[in-house]
Amino acid sequence: MEKSKKKEVAVIGQGYIGVPMSVLIAHNTNFIVNGIDKNNIQGNKIKENLEKNLLPFKTKDQELLKKFQKVKKLNKYKIYLNLDPIKRCKIIIVSVGFDFTKKNSIKNLKKLFFDISNKIKKKTLLILETTLPPGTSEKIIIPLLKKNLNKRNISINDIYFAYSYERVTPGSKYYDSIFNNYRVYAGFNTLSSRVCENFLKKIINTKKYPLTKLQNIKDCETCKIFENTYRAVNIALLDEFTKFSIENKIDIKKILTAIRLRKTHNNIMNPGLGVGGYCLTKDPKFLSFSSKYILKSNSKFPIIDRSMSINSKMVNTSISFIKKKIKIFKNKKILQIGISYKEDVDDIRFSPSAELAFKLKKMGAILEIYDTLFTSNDKMSLNFVDELNFKRYDYVLFCVGHKKIKNINLKKLDKKPIYFDLNNIFKKVDYKYFKRKKIKFFELSKPI
Ligand SMILES: NC(=O)c1ccc[n+]([C@@H]2O[C@H](COP(=O)([O-])OP(=O)(O)OC[C@H]3O[C@@H](n4cnc5c(N)ncnc54)[C@H](O)[C@@H]3O)[C@@H](O)[C@H]2O)c1
Repeated sequence: MEKSKKKEVAVIGQGYIGVPMSVLIAHNTNFIVNGIDKNNIQGNKIKENLEKNLLPFKTKDQELLKKFQKVKKLNKYKIYLNLDPIKRCKIIIVSVGFDFTKKNSIKNLKKLFFDISNKIKKKTLLILETTLPPGTSEKIIIPLLKKNLNKRNISINDIYFAYSYERVTPGSKYYDSIFNNYRVYAGFNTLSSRVCENFLKKIINTKKYPLTKLQNIKDCETCKIFENTYRAVNIALLDEFTKFSIENKIDIKKILTAIRLRKTHNNIMNPGLGVGGYCLTKDPKFLSFSSKYILKSNSKFPIIDRSMSINSKMVNTSISFIKKKIKIFKNKKILQIGISYKEDVDDIRFSPSAELAFKLKKMGAILEIYDTLFTSNDKMSLNFVDELNFKRYDYVLFCVGHKKIKNINLKKLDKKPIYFDLNNIFKKVDYKYFKRKKIKFFELSKPI
């Protein structure tokens, strides 16, 4: 009896988004997933890891780890460094990164869609999930697809093109944040929307988290930029109040607790070391890029521009806070705990903690770093330690609240150093303990 052929999906871009998306599809459907990355050093490294049944990044999310192992065992997740597999796929997802400040970004994006249009078959669903400047699909990608498909006697209406950006949050609930999350999408035409909707319904929990369909792809691209900009602007606002509070010995934490009681304000954030990571540092800038070069609308964004400028210097707020106690950094023995951009990830792209480390080093501190996930990088010229021995230091800076750090045995803390919590890592009850034990511990949001 002839074996029935399994349906296949391609996920182009095997990074922090493409990998969990590949696992999710392989796990929740009968499809075989072909993960595709570039044939360069990074791509080869990713391939090497995935073929050894290792994720290309570190994560503590047990659900992602378990499901990854399961789909690998079932041989449902394969990895390639060329686009050939897309010829046999009925669904193609594009999860590559895009940053207009990087050299040849538009050229590379065009090249990718040019290559896809040379291989894609009729009746294939092409979903783009990369965060893009609004208008990129309408003004750049779709005209390119149309033109190139025509050369193969295929109309754009013969494929289904849709945009549905990613909201995943790497960290302890990495997998869950894709599966159990509201998702937004838009199709190139009605049929594309419908086909995209049907596919999304197969892979994520749309029963509990219904999909939102937007009018068109440009709206959908803008939606992603708006939600990340909203967060970035709020962080900048908070930084202004934090600076004011440090200077004037105001208890911003208590103030925020009082404000949060108002229903309209209950998600206001706490002060922190800084805004980092791949998305919040770049996405808000996409709006002015779009306005200038893609949609050519001449709109201005003074609030966003100012916020991005404030956020880019936010680490200085923490430095001025610790300076209240560390007058001179030169030759001071400092332990910095955490270097990734946020808790429970190993990603140090645009990490404020990494920025802090380099600044402290430049100011002459004898600095050591401890991070439970990111353990070292030859190129960084920073000293990493893999054990906590607090009494060796004059100062200890808690910068990233990885789970293991949050659960640290407080009895391990030595009385010798002065400690700082720069990212809301410890709880009220911990501070009571520090006070009782006469451990000198200062919290960014409290007056010194
Ligand atoms: N990281 C996050 O938390 C997050 C969250 C939501 C949305 N996003 C968005 O998702 C997208 C992907 O982000 P990421 O963090 O996964 O980036 P990443 O850099 O970790 O991964 C992107 C991968 O795509 C590969 N790639 C690039 N061009 C390619 C090509 N032409 N062919 C094949 N592979 C190619 C790269 O080699 C890389 O491995 C971005 O637009 C990002 O803004 C990221």
